[in-house]
Amino acid sequence: AIEAVGAREILDSRGNPTVEVEVLLEDGTVSRAAVPSGASTGAFEAYELRDGDKGRYFGKGVRKAVDAVLDEIGPAVEGLDATDQRVVDATLIALDGTENKGRLGANALLGVSLATARAAADSADLPLFRYIGGPNAHILPVPLLNVINGGAHADTGVDIQEFFLVPHGAETFSEGLRWGVETYHTLKSLLKSKGLATGLGDEGGFAPELASNREALDLLLEAIEKAGFTPGTDIALGLDVASTEFFSDGVYNFEGVGRTSAEMNSYFADLVANFPLVTIEDPLAEDDWEGYAALTAELGDKVQIVGDDLFVTNPTRLQRGIDEDIANSILVKVNQIGTLTETLDAVSLAQRSGYTAILSHRSGETEDVTIAHLAVATDCGQIKTGAPARSERVAKYNELLRIEEELDTAAVYAGRSAFPRYTA
Ligand code: PGA
Ligand code: ZN
Repeated sequence: AIEAVGAREILDSRGNPTVEVEVLLEDGTVSRAAVPSGASTGAFEAYELRDGDKGRYFGKGVRKAVDAVLDEIGPAVEGLDATDQRVVDATLIALDGTENKGRLGANALLGVSLATARAAADSADLPLFRYIGGPNAHILPVPLLNVINGGAHADTGVDIQEFFLVPHGAETFSEGLRWGVETYHTLKSLLKSKGLATGLGDEGGFAPELASNREALDLLLEAIEKAGFTPGTDIALGLDVASTEFFSDGVYNFEGVGRTSAEMNSYFADLVANFPLVTIEDPLAEDDWEGYAALTAELGDKVQIVGDDLFVTNPTRLQRGIDEDIANSILVKVNQIGTLTETLDAVSLAQRSGYTAILSHRSGETEDVTIAHLAVATDCGQIKTGAPARSERVAKYNELLRIEEELDTAAVYAGRSAFPRYTA
């Protein structure tokens, strides 16, 4: 049973405060979890509680969330069995009592939820992926390596937030990762040779000033070939457009032109026809359900269309998407919803409904590697955790290498099967 719960304020990868929680069990096990934080957050995400005290960290301190853990949340779960994750999480949700976890803060609640799971796994002497996923957890995810950062994650003129290398043609996770890493280094040389900047954005990708979004895709194709791989079959491409960020008053302000969602959709159809794209995330704004319906009807059988700000890991919003044929995939971020149970519910709802699911980091991360375990635990087949640079990103890839080794001959790389809609 849970004997005590501790919490502290630590820093994330952008140097902003975040919550870390420690759970102590009666058997002496002590385990911790740290909470990530987004920059291009969706309006429908669970609430991240910050102090608002301008005298500390420009208002971004999380002492209130830490106090919520120490004073209220911890005492409410003490005595509960840590292996009863659903009971623990239901207790957290009821204690908060709001729709968006706005009273105690999703950052406070998530820290306790994840640290409880970690403690239960440690106490059982099981790796987290096996504790959560059981003996069926054996699929290593295809990494979506975000190697060019734009949008809210970089200060360049590139509107699309993330450009992915997707090494789906490899035989194993470690091989796919190596292909991605070699292409990443080749891309760096290529940028240098063209006189473009090689400084890194928040997720470890390069952040060059480019004339257009297509130029970024052309650079990736060139880097893949230079690195000795075949674009499309070995390494495919993907995008997180993060459209909500440049949508205002019903207009998409994209590449210097105000566009309708129909115009955005024809831009995407053109990209899909000309580039080996396997996945497009948040192509439209978080409330443009109509535009999404049209896009899904047009491209949904050719490419993975992922809802991030659209679904916010929320089973209720995902259910609406399923009912209305909106998108065909969900991005899964633990802090968008605030408990492990609801996260796993979102993944299984997706999987039961013919939607794919992608376990994802946030742009503000820590050394916590929980999402690597969740990707394998759910057999979801895809993970988005940045470029192979910056230790908060690499930590997740390194953990997946360890998990692959631990699974040994049972490990299966999701590979091309992760993208059933891609046929090119
Ligand atoms: P965020 O970005 O963590 O800043 O929200 C990641 C994403 O949009 O997928
Ligand atoms: Zn996104």
